[in-house]
Amino acid sequence: MKPVRVALLGCGVVGTEIVRLLAEQSDDLAARVGAPIELAGIAVRRPDRVRHGVPRELLTTDAMGLATREDVDLVVEVIGGIEPARSLILGALKTGKSVVSANKALLAEDGETLFAAAREFGADLYYEASVAGAIPLLRPLRESLVGDRIHRVLGIVNGTTNYILDQMDTHGAGFAEALEEAQGLGYAEADPTADVEAFDAAAKAAILARLAFHTPVTAADVHREGITEVTAQDVAGAKAVDCVVKLLAICERFEDRGVSVRVYPAMIPRSHPLGSVRGAFNAVFVEAESAGSLMFYGAGAGGAPTASAVLGDIVAVSRNLVSGASGPAETSYAALPVLPMGETITRY
Ligand code: HSE
Repeated sequence: MKPVRVALLGCGVVGTEIVRLLAEQSDDLAARVGAPIELAGIAVRRPDRVRHGVPRELLTTDAMGLATREDVDLVVEVIGGIEPARSLILGALKTGKSVVSANKALLAEDGETLFAAAREFGADLYYEASVAGAIPLLRPLRESLVGDRIHRVLGIVNGTTNYILDQMDTHGAGFAEALEEAQGLGYAEADPTADVEAFDAAAKAAILARLAFHTPVTAADVHREGITEVTAQDVAGAKAVDCVVKLLAICERFEDRGVSVRVYPAMIPRSHPLGSVRGAFNAVFVEAESAGSLMFYGAGAGGAPTASAVLGDIVAVSRNLVSGASGPAETSYAALPVLPMGETITRY
């Protein structure tokens, strides 16, 4: 059976875990796909860095060369950020290769360009790991719920800030100390400003809103407030009235008037299901016309949970490659305006 040849772009915490899992589970994965999945190469910036379990002979610094190489079927991008990730993904799609990406910043800033390229060149673009780590959330929105009308998506989508707020709530920890712990546990972004100023959550909210409402939403459309100004006193004050402070992402559709997408720290009753989301866990409610209210909960950050989501996409795309099928071709047809904050109403 002809193997599916995978190019891995980036080999940090998540990439290393993907390499490990592909090797460790190779027989099982081959059985599920109907063909072996083979690593064709791994593009890194610093080949001399020690990475346990990563075959050195597969490393290259020529990411574009690898992403467009003839013997590669599937490109997995876990570099993050806008460039060079965008050029590499576009390069891969234009040469007909399917792409799996965990890159929320890029998908939230310029997803439409990538989806258009995937449609034009008949390639798959999967990105489950870009939002809420291990939690299967995008595929339900993209496939299972695509026949329904979604009214609202609401939840906690950043593990680092939830970990910090939880530590402040449970142990009275200071902000800086809790952030350092979250970084040590591998939850935070390379620059934790993305987490604590809610750029990360805003990007995820944009991706969720786009999928839920079939309308183009970018990170710049999202009203964003981070948690850097949440003090120990705020958290203690909330606790005194049986509430808890959580960084919420809210994507709401106001019929055909428009959508509102916002991220900010909010005080919610401790008895609310989101009030009991601890540590780096994420939880998201989806409210749909016919399906009613659905809750998704699980590990939202960290190398292994994120690698699980990437691996799920690798298997799904590999199955498509083997069977000649393709994943959902996405279009944002609705063109609903994004409403400014003052024009929206919040219901909890
Ligand atoms: N820094 C992100 C978080 C990683 O804490 O949620 C997962 O996207």
